[in-house]
Amino acid sequence: MKNIYLIGFMGSGKSAVCSRLHELTGMEVIEMDASIVDKEGMSINDIFATKGEEYFRDVESELLYLISEESNKAVSCGGGAILRQKNVDLMKESGKIILLSATPETIYNRVKNCTDRPLLNGNMNIPYITKLMDDRRPRYTAAADFTVTVDNRSIDDICKEILELMK
Ligand code: S3P
Repeated sequence: MKNIYLIGFMGSGKSAVCSRLHELTGMEVIEMDASIVDKEGMSINDIFATKGEEYFRDVESELLYLISEESNKAVSCGGGAILRQKNVDLMKESGKIILLSATPETIYNRVKNCTDRPLLNGNMNIPYITKLMDDRRPRYTAAADFTVTVDNRSIDDICKEILELMK
């Protein structure tokens, strides 16, 4: 089977869904952010602060290239992994892309106490999240093979829908 790439805004539940997909199917999970933290030996906050966002995006793209050579993986993508078209092309060639879609209110409630998302540090409010989401929406929707709404749904329910879509 090809890879399943979960994309979506920060806090849309990509990691939790991937982890449950692993429990349900045995598919191996790749957490892009965690892999980058391992490789760089520093937190996402520190990578952004000391090396900059472009550097982070370069590392993210290199990792995606390696993942695209694999198969049968459930990949929890960083929220900005779709910002480079080359990344989207690699995902499309090597799997199916599932967009987890949530309202700004859902996202805010999930991420409001997080301190490890540099793009939201200092901007942790619904208007900012709405704006960033609006800016990115065309990229998310263009990349997605399928869109799954996550507001007010259990992880199991979301996984069930994803597994149906993958049949
Ligand atoms: C980012 C999302 C984060 C992380 C980095 C940038 C983004 O991942 O890759 O902070 O640009 O949306 P999560 O979506 O897992 O929070």
